[in-house]
Amino acid sequence: MTMTITSTSNAAAVLASPLKINGLEIKNRIILGPMAVLRPTEDGRPSEQSIAFLKRRAQGGVGLVIVGGSVCSERAWNESPFAPNLRFDKDEFVDDLKRLTAAVHEYGTPVFAQLFPSFGRMGVPRNDRWISAASPKPVSIGSGGLPNHLYIPGGRITPVPHEASAEEIKDIEVSVVAGARRAKAAGFDGVEIGAHMCYFYSSFLSPLSNQRTDEYGGSAENRARILRDVVAAVRAEVGTDYPVGLRMSVNDHMRGGQEPEGFAEVASHIARAGLDFISLSEGNYESMRDNVPSTSGNMLAHGEPQAFRKALGSGVRLFLSSTPDPKQAANAITAGHVDASMLARQMLADPDYALKVIEGREAEIVWCDHANSCLRRLILNVPVACHKNPEMGSEAPDTKRSSPGQEFAVWAAGNKVLMGAADTLARAAQKMK
Ligand SMILES: Cc1cc2nc3c(=O)[nH]c(=O)nc-3n(C[C@H](O)[C@H](O)[C@H](O)COP(=O)(O)O)c2cc1C
Ligand code: SF4
Repeated sequence: MTMTITSTSNAAAVLASPLKINGLEIKNRIILGPMAVLRPTEDGRPSEQSIAFLKRRAQGGVGLVIVGGSVCSERAWNESPFAPNLRFDKDEFVDDLKRLTAAVHEYGTPVFAQLFPSFGRMGVPRNDRWISAASPKPVSIGSGGLPNHLYIPGGRITPVPHEASAEEIKDIEVSVVAGARRAKAAGFDGVEIGAHMCYFYSSFLSPLSNQRTDEYGGSAENRARILRDVVAAVRAEVGTDYPVGLRMSVNDHMRGGQEPEGFAEVASHIARAGLDFISLSEGNYESMRDNVPSTSGNMLAHGEPQAFRKALGSGVRLFLSSTPDPKQAANAITAGHVDASMLARQMLADPDYALKVIEGREAEIVWCDHANSCLRRLILNVPVACHKNPEMGSEAPDTKRSSPGQEFAVWAAGNKVLMGAADTLARAAQKMK
């Protein structure tokens, strides 16, 4: 039986312990999760702000930084719903990316790149190019079931993607492999392939979004094929000792959807191609309250890490999500369910979270309130800021802040009464159509 951790100092000791991910050792088990908050330049290079934001989190003691908000293909650059992104799709970006990795390395902190080749079902058709996914299934984002203080009046249904052809699948694989090569050349210490949240690769994982009848659909082995192939191709490019992982959906959280055991079975087929870690990602845009929860520890309560561990054994490192309570995270590590705790919003609210946990200064932590104004900003394309941390979003001194008009839009979009009225109007308009 595993002992339950009840003291702050025991939790600190567990989270402060080093972890090996393939050939790399990280100094502790608190990870900065990927977030599109970097405000790169309009042409997709790291800005002073991108670098200052990441450096501040490295200074705050995290064991590993994962860089999000990035793309590794021109397709993803064009169809992104959250522009601009950091680009890995051409060799000309490598020198600028080197400045970013060097800045994080100043603190002895390794940094991984999230490789993102297509937004799939969440893509925005632009420049005469349509979006593609496993099957022609749009994403239906209801006005209910959303995270705290997030309202989408009338809900939203995305455009219907076309079924990806074998040629597109290959092109996307080629772009991921080239992205991995550039990430390694730019000094990144590992790569994470994005396969979550209704984006391109995640659409293949579940029978709910994958209704193909070819070799990419049907059995768990077939639904794993596209990712198994891309992991094998990336592995062949970067070598055996370089960390390669996935950010992967682990539970549909929808009626008739796939449960954690089903996702874990798919993962076990992908892992055979040489996977070092999986960043667990709960729910998706159709079950967003589960993806961006308001309390700590939901993932453990739902049993997703446990199912993945059972299917994969201890060879694949598992990164827990959304568990800022240090004791819960440490207990999950001690019990062997996961290997590290990966946090997103908590790291916006308090860049020093990791140091405070490790040094036993829990009382000093500035806790994220899960009121999600950061998320509303992301969705409205307003520079992301955090109301619990005035420094966030302008870690570099000359960064332009959002305008009063943008601030009003963020406030209005989080107002229950205003958005309730807008929802009623939107539904009435839909009925009249
Ligand atoms: C502002 C913002 C931007 C995000 N951008 C990304 C991203 O680029 N890539 C990604 O995989 N997840 C992204 N996420 C999701 C987070 O990594 C994370 O899965 C989610 O916030 C739940 O974790 P948390 O409870 O620790 O915040 C973003 C989240 C937020 C709030
Ligand atoms: S704005 Fe800050 S405090 Fe609020 S949810 Fe986002 S990170 Fe947490």
